Amino acid sequence: MSDPSERPSESMPGPDTSGLKPLSNAEDMPLSNPSNSELSRIMSRAGITMSNGFPLDDGDDDDEEEVDEDYVAVDQEDANDFPYWFRRPPTHHRTKLDELHPFVQLLSVSNIQDCVEVENAFPEEERCSRDKFIYRLTRCPELSLGLFTLPVIEEDQPKPRATLVGHIIATRTSGPCVTDGSMKLPKNWSSERWTFEEGQAVGHEEGGGTIAIHSLAVLPEHQGKQVGSTLIKSYIQRIREAQIADRIAIIAHDHLIPFYESFGFESRGPSKCQFGGGGWVDLVLEFGPEQ
Ligand SMILES: CC(C)(COP(=O)(O)OP(=O)(O)OC[C@H]1O[C@@H](n2cnc3c(N)ncnc32)[C@H](O)[C@@H]1OP(=O)(O)O)[C@@H](O)C(=O)NCCC(=O)NCCS
Repeated sequence: MSDPSERPSESMPGPDTSGLKPLSNAEDMPLSNPSNSELSRIMSRAGITMSNGFPLDDGDDDDEEEVDEDYVAVDQEDANDFPYWFRRPPTHHRTKLDELHPFVQLLSVSNIQDCVEVENAFPEEERCSRDKFIYRLTRCPELSLGLFTLPVIEEDQPKPRATLVGHIIATRTSGPCVTDGSMKLPKNWSSERWTFEEGQAVGHEEGGGTIAIHSLAVLPEHQGKQVGSTLIKSYIQRIREAQIADRIAIIAHDHLIPFYESFGFESRGPSKCQFGGGGWVDLVLEFGPEQ
């Protein structure tokens, strides 16, 4: 128990209590005693009138006006001139990609006809068939990505359907690279979850750590507008952030090796794939442990 003689006497200078409200049950505290000369001095310095230990609201709004002075009044007419930064045209020239007002989103079976049209960018023997689009967009639509454009229209015109400009279609495989088996259309895929041919898995392998891209294509009239680059960059970023794979693999012809290397893919030499006549190079982008 503390010695009562150690308690501060009324004559001792107390702490600076300006700004503190008195506690109604603190009878013996200096704040509750309006006759206390020290308290009166502090309250008077703070501009507070006390009654029975409580501060009185004198109904004077002067204090509020003082607070208001901290705010800068903005004249509406001046405000129009002020944010000129926000109304300046973009610092870069509008690119051909900007003109498409592009947006990317996952594909679904509702986009099959769009994909068939985009796939015409490939020579006939390298195209993915309609049945393969149905299969891949049914089994693993989450591994796809489409870049769409919406034409600018007048206000009273009905909203048009977005046009698919480019796509990426992929499946999973357990090997480190794209294989002919991973590109095949499994028979009975709608009734069987797994398909093996000659001991090899065929088609999409659900648990595979490699995402095998089977198609990156852009409508011929929109090639050279950075659509392909935007799609693959966006795709890599999505897969990396989702942390759903160890690597992304693709096969490409020699002339596109620098294109893929610029996004982090590494060339692994000639591919064993004979799809579409062969002559492919394996390219792999490893995510590594730092993801
Ligand atoms: C390959 C493809 C997807 C590229 O898409 P894109 O939108 O035309 O490409 P981008 O505008 O983003 O091009 C970016 C860079 O890629 C390179 N590039 C694009 N197409 C190329 C080609 N056919 N050959 C060589 N380099 C090419 C260029 O260096 C270009 O750089 P630049 O803009 O400085 O000229 C597209 O041309 C296409 O669909 N081709 C037919 C299908 C195909 O071959 N797909 C690849 C399967 S592996």
